Amino acid sequence: MILGIETSCDETAAALVTENGELRANVVSSQAELHARYGGVVPEVASRRHLELIDLVIREALEEAEATLDAVDRVAVTQGPGLIGALLVGLAAAKAIAWSRRLPLVPVDHLDGHVASLWLEPDPLEPPFLCLLASGGHTMLLDVRSHTERELLGTTLDDAAGEAFDKGARLLGLGYPGGREIDRLARDGDPRAYAFPVARVPGLDFSFSGLKTALLYAVRELGPAELAARRADLAASYQRAIVRALAERLQEAAERTGRDRIAIVGGVAANSELRASLPEAVAAPLPLCTDNAAMIASAARWRESLPYPRYLALDAYASR
Ligand code: KG4
Ligand code: ZN
Repeated sequence: MILGIETSCDETAAALVTENGELRANVVSSQAELHARYGGVVPEVASRRHLELIDLVIREALEEAEATLDAVDRVAVTQGPGLIGALLVGLAAAKAIAWSRRLPLVPVDHLDGHVASLWLEPDPLEPPFLCLLASGGHTMLLDVRSHTERELLGTTLDDAAGEAFDKGARLLGLGYPGGREIDRLARDGDPRAYAFPVARVPGLDFSFSGLKTALLYAVRELGPAELAARRADLAASYQRAIVRALAERLQEAAERTGRDRIAIVGGVAANSELRASLPEAVAAPLPLCTDNAAMIASAARWRESLPYPRYLALDAYASR
């Protein structure tokens, strides 16, 4: 089996996946509550929490799979991009386990991991396909040509889609992370109540910063009581604008590339309106949309392993 480890942001995660893509265990310990009072992830707090949790989370994954480290043939770990201190905790844990048992180690790019969330049994999506990766840190259109090759067709020029959800939620006085909160509240609101504009930028890129400003102005015009009464309408209209921008660009990209299969991955792919508005798209399984280690182990199946002891000098990267 492959032991996957992921600590790039505020989820401490470990998973066990077989070489043919069966998920045997998937443990995710979210630190969201810890960071909620700051309204976002505090990097130093995240690193320290990863350090406290990583052993427990790996142990729990082994228990869930009813296995011991004897069953692990390779260790896969997120090398970047992400918070550097957080990444280093996972990387050090992976190196220590691999080194102590003389196992090979597979460094995995977090974005490749999100795409690989589509490749687990029982319904793996075979490349080529067009993929929207929308998370708290990234919004990208990818032409996924094979299990190892992808081309970037478009990206955000400012905020990521998940960031737009999180910042919008903060303006509406909702909790962190905001995507799920807006998703939930929007069900009780009218998406046509407010006409929020989404910038149309050239090519296949995205822009969400203007939308956030439009929400800010709308909120400022309301008193506290009015805001409470209109919160669901604001959430529904704001979500509609983000979902439209993502869905339209994805369809444009499909026309341009001629790809007939499209997929959505990343935390924002958990959004119920986005999933509903793209019935033809393959969405990552709900539990594998937000950060997890199953997708990291999944990606490792097509990546080269570094033999012992070559990986001991491996470093993490915050960005490419
Ligand atoms: O993939 P992910 O866990 O972490 C990154 O790699 O960034 O994505 C987290 C993002 C957050 O911005 C969160 O608000 C958003 O995904 N998110 C959602 C939903 N669930 C999570 N956004 C919209 N609707 C959701 N249901
Ligand atoms: Zn992610």
